[in-house]
Formats: sequence, C-alpha cells, structure tokens
Amino acid sequence: MTVKLYPRLLVFLLANTLGTQNVRHIYDEMDWSLYTFECPQECFCPPNFPNALYCDNKGLKEIPTIPARISYLYLQNNLIETISDISFVNATQIKWINLNKNKITNNGIEKGVLSSLKKLLYLFLEDNELEEVPAPLPSSLEQLQLARNKISTIPEGVFNNLENLTMLDLQHNKLLDSALQSDTFQGLNSLMQLNIAKNSLTKMPLSLPSNTVQLFLDNNSIEVIPENYFNEIPKLTFLRLNNNKLSDEGLPPMVFNVSSILDLQLSHNQLTTIPFITAHLEHLHLDHNRIKSVNCSQMCPTSISEDHGYFGTMPRLRYLRLDGNEIQPPIPMDLMICFRLLKAVVI
Ligand SMILES: *[C@@H]1O[C@H](CO)[C@@H](O)[C@H](O)[C@H]1NC(C)=O
Ligand SMILES: *[C@@H]1O[C@H](CO)[C@@H](O)[C@H](O)[C@H]1NC(C)=O
Ligand SMILES: *[C@@H]1O[C@H](CO)[C@@H](O)[C@H](O)[C@H]1NC(C)=O
Ligand SMILES: *[C@@H]1O[C@H](CO)[C@@H](O)[C@H](O)[C@H]1NC(C)=O
Ligand SMILES: *[C@@H]1O[C@H](CO)[C@@H](O)[C@H](O)[C@H]1NC(C)=O
Repeated sequence: MTVKLYPRLLVFLLANTLGTQNVRHIYDEMDWSLYTFECPQECFCPPNFPNALYCDNKGLKEIPTIPARISYLYLQNNLIETISDISFVNATQIKWINLNKNKITNNGIEKGVLSSLKKLLYLFLEDNELEEVPAPLPSSLEQLQLARNKISTIPEGVFNNLENLTMLDLQHNKLLDSALQSDTFQGLNSLMQLNIAKNSLTKMPLSLPSNTVQLFLDNNSIEVIPENYFNEIPKLTFLRLNNNKLSDEGLPPMVFNVSSILDLQLSHNQLTTIPFITAHLEHLHLDHNRIKSVNCSQMCPTSISEDHGYFGTMPRLRYLRLDGNEIQPPIPMDLMICFRLLKAVVI
C-alpha cells in the first residue's frame, strides 16, 4: 500500500532549494533591468521560480497584493489577521497558500475569498486563531491543514463538496463529540488521512469516508470502540489511538479483526489484556497500559502445530511494544515461535 504523502516532501525540497543563501546570492547578482515582473516590496520573488512568492517571516500584518502569475504563496510566520479579497483579486492561479503561524480569526476571513480561489489545492492555516473551520472552501482543495487552532465548530456542509480532499488535519483543537455530526465528513470521497488527535472526543467519530487509510485519534478521551466500527472503512491501514481511555470493557473482542490494519497504536490506555490481532498486523504499540502477562498461545493469530508449523497465514508482526505495563520478565520466548518476523520487542 502506498500512501500519498509526497506533498510534504515537496515542501521540504522547495524550502531547501529556494529559501537558502544561495538563492539570495543569485538574486543579488542579477541584472536588475531584466527583473521585470511585479514583486511586492515586502516579499522575495525568486527569478528562477517565477510562480512562487516568499513573504514568510517578515512581521507582516497584512497580505500584500498577490501578482497574477503566482501559484505558490508563502506567508507563514507573520502577524497577519485578515484574508481579504483585495489581496487576491488578480491571483487566479493560486494553488498553494501557506499561512501557518499567523493571527487569523474567522472574522478576519472575508466571506467568499477562499472559495473564489478556484485552483487552490493546498491550504495551510496551522497555528492561527480560528474557532471554526473556515467556510466556504474551494472545491478544488486536496489538503487542508488546521492544526493548533481553537476550532470547536465545524459549519454544516463545509466539507461536503471537497471531492478531491485527501488530507484533513484538525489535530490540537477544541472539538467535542457534538461538533462531529453523522454528515460532517460526507462527500469526502478521496480522503485518505484524517487527523483529529488532541481534541476532546469521548467517542469514535461516526460515518467516516470509506477511503480512509490513516486515522489518528491520539490524545482524546475515547473509552469505547463500537462493534464492527471498522467495517465502513475497509482500507484503514494506520490506526492511532494512543493516550485515550480505552479499557478491556470498551473493546469488543473481535474489533481489531480487520485485515487491512497494518499499524495499530494503543499506547497509554487502560488495557489489562492484549486484544485480538490478525496475522496481517505488522506494528503493534501496547506500551503504557496495565497488561500483567503475555499469553503467547492466546495472542498468536494463527495456530501452530507441535512441530512449530503454521495452520494458515504466517503472522507478519515485526515490531511490538509492551513496555510500561506490569509484565514481569523474562520476555516470553514463545513470542518468537509465533511471530517469526519480529524484529524488535520492547518490554
Ligand atoms: C489587476 O490586474 C489589472 C490588469 O493587469 C491591473 O490593472 C490591476 O491594477 C490589478 N489589480 C491589483 C489590485 O493589483
Ligand atoms: C478533482 O480532480 C479531478 C482530477 O484531477 C479534476 O478533474 C476535478 O476537476 C477535480 N474536482 C474539483 C472539484 O476541482
Ligand atoms: C499526546 O500527549 C502526550 C503526553 O502529553 C504527548 O507526549 C504526545 O506528543 C501527544 N501526542 C499527540 C499526537 O498530540
Ligand atoms: C476474523 O474475521 C474473518 C474475516 O472477516 C473471519 O473469517 C474470522 O472468523 C474472524 N476471526 C475470528 C476469531 O472471529
Ligand atoms: C493461555 O491461553 C490459552 C488459550 O486461551 C489457555 O488455554 C491457557 O490456559 C492460557 N495460559 C495461561 C498460562 O494462562
């Protein structure tokens, strides 16, 4: 399974090639008479990358007028409070806006300015002062990063037309269960990664998009996973529920009998026994629970004969964390008889 995470890598590469001294050097040495294109004076316009505009780390309070040619706009780490129409009136080619680490509030976003950016693919608004998911959003969006705001409200229908959104990051906000309705994520037919870590959920979110591959719910107060919860997200591969309040009573016995899940993280919960796992699982984090003992024959997803042959699929578990529990040494060596691909066990 390959997961589409390359846009982050691209940001890194761009930042590395363009944000450095070398580029400034070239810029300083250029013949200014050739430098014809428009560039807001507060910003840096790299001559070899005319579609990008760098206005980051400048103490800006307002977004300058964006020239029409710009596709990539870097405004992170400023003091910007508002997003208004006037800045974007000619900027119809914008694909990427990074406004992380500013002071943007919902009132500061002029109504309709975001949805007027018809080609916008990536919108980064991490570390701002939003209390609601901004609405309306352009239906072209592929990534929406809203981590570390104060979001407690998701306006009705705000995501419903985002058919190409693959990544939605709402971690470290103030979402309660009541903020997530059964139709909140409806229409997100391309969504692969949903991050709602570090909010105030006590329940698993319902009606998730069926293409979800990565679901991150760490640092909430989730106590229960409903029976058959994962049936509606059959592609789920990475599940993180670290730092919640899951106990044995909250987990139906077969809830993780889901062959798509390869990486299961349940660290820092209140489990006293090891939940049922499948032979497909590759990474299991159970550290910092209240597990007292490891019963290898119970944990092994495949039955093993007297001569140590398998009936069925060979378990694929490669990494197992059990540290921070109440397990007495020694490490049960039977684990290796069942999990022959195990590369590391942390006890
Ligand atoms: C938008 O572009 C037009 C035509 O090039 C230009 O006359 C106008 O000044 C621009 N508006 C802004 C706000 O830059
Ligand atoms: C979604 O992506 C497809 C393929 O790139 C594109 O044809 C379509 O117009 C996009 N939808 C929206 C609403 O932008
Ligand atoms: C969850 O909280 C723990 C302990 O405060 C912290 O170490 C960890 O980074 C947090 N994880 C997330 C994803 O917020
Ligand atoms: C786990 O799920 C599979 C496929 O859905 C099913 O065939 C199997 O019986 C289940 N295992 C247990 C122990 O219930
Ligand atoms: C381990 O689990 C198996 C199967 O459920 C059970 O028969 C056995 O008694 C258990 N062993 C211990 C030491 O509890």
